[in-house]
Amino acid sequence: MFKINENYLKLPGSYLFSTVGRKEREYKSAHPDKKVIKLSIGDVTQPIAPTIIKAMHAAVDEMGNAATFHGYAPDLGYEFLRKAIADGDYKTRGVDIAIDEIFVSDGAKCDSSNIQEILGLDNRIAVGDPVYPVYVDSNVMAGRAGDYNSTTGTWSNVIYMPCKEENNFAPELPKEVPDIIYLCFPNNPTGATINKTELQKWVDYANEHKSLIIYDAAYEAYISDADVPHTIYECDGAKTCAIELKSFSKNAGFTGVRLGYTVIPKELECDGVKLNALWARRHGTKYNGAPYIVQRAGEAVYSEAGKAELKEQVAYYMKNAKVIKDGLKNAGYSVSGGVNAPYIWLKTIDGMTSWEFFDYVLENANVVGTPGSGFGPSGEGYFRLTAFGTYENTVEAIERMKKIIK
Ligand code: MLT
Repeated sequence: MFKINENYLKLPGSYLFSTVGRKEREYKSAHPDKKVIKLSIGDVTQPIAPTIIKAMHAAVDEMGNAATFHGYAPDLGYEFLRKAIADGDYKTRGVDIAIDEIFVSDGAKCDSSNIQEILGLDNRIAVGDPVYPVYVDSNVMAGRAGDYNSTTGTWSNVIYMPCKEENNFAPELPKEVPDIIYLCFPNNPTGATINKTELQKWVDYANEHKSLIIYDAAYEAYISDADVPHTIYECDGAKTCAIELKSFSKNAGFTGVRLGYTVIPKELECDGVKLNALWARRHGTKYNGAPYIVQRAGEAVYSEAGKAELKEQVAYYMKNAKVIKDGLKNAGYSVSGGVNAPYIWLKTIDGMTSWEFFDYVLENANVVGTPGSGFGPSGEGYFRLTAFGTYENTVEAIERMKKIIK
């Protein structure tokens, strides 16, 4: 008789953004006359930049010609893309990452959960609280999180690192030593960042305790402050303790195109076993690569024209972030984030819970955001808005939110 993976039964409710999406759909169908503005999931609204579209068209034409057609992609990704990444994301920052330390994939979300396959089930994980829910949910599915306590909203085998106002919404080094530490900077959901000196402390801590850092740098393109590191490998010793995840979703608008990559340095070992070799084995066995057309699109991201166009796109979204942050602050909301990150983290009003505030904002301003408690217990009483909407919708949403603060 076959058995299911019972860990799935432990998961309370559905995936956060599925629940938010369902509530939005229900509200819209009950109120077809309302113009609902969605500032919930961090999904981009600007079209793919012209240089990238041109590269995709050229790649499509190649696929239609026997002489230039491409079948299965190489296991780790095409060399043209991995070289563009090594040069564009690392060499330019004085960081030496070899192309066989870069693994191209269809996105950082999948990599952030798949990566655990090469890690033992008895590892104890630590996460920021609040946190991108995929890290925790995927560890629950794997059977690493223990049991859920519905009163506290916590898992028995997960170390939570609270990110609150008093620590500027960024985690502090945990007192109990974890085996695996998930870090995300610029942070999703709080929009917080830390400087290089602070990040170096995490790297030193991980090396000292032989912990592994899984560093999610999906929002790196939004960094504007000079002292905020763009990659964890800017820190000394990071290659012996950190895996880095990167995405093309937010910097190049690839949420629907799908492309990302993971860096696993060859120095990263556990008892003499190289994680790079394990992930290469996993990639070769279970994955057939991002499509050629998409990898050519990724390559165009690093072209001079591509970089210039994407800089404008990032600036567009950061203009939205400013509209949200300044607008809400002036109206009396308590807000943070939105400076080196496309997310604004705000306190609910009148002591409402995150979900009460979600309903209040949806009903009274017809704006959809994401309840902070969906990201973890320390997110209770907070709400996240994304800067990835259109400028016009963002302005309108904030005008409406100004009116509903009592
Ligand atoms: C978010 O809204 O947190 C992100 O868009 C989700 C994701 O990148 O998967």
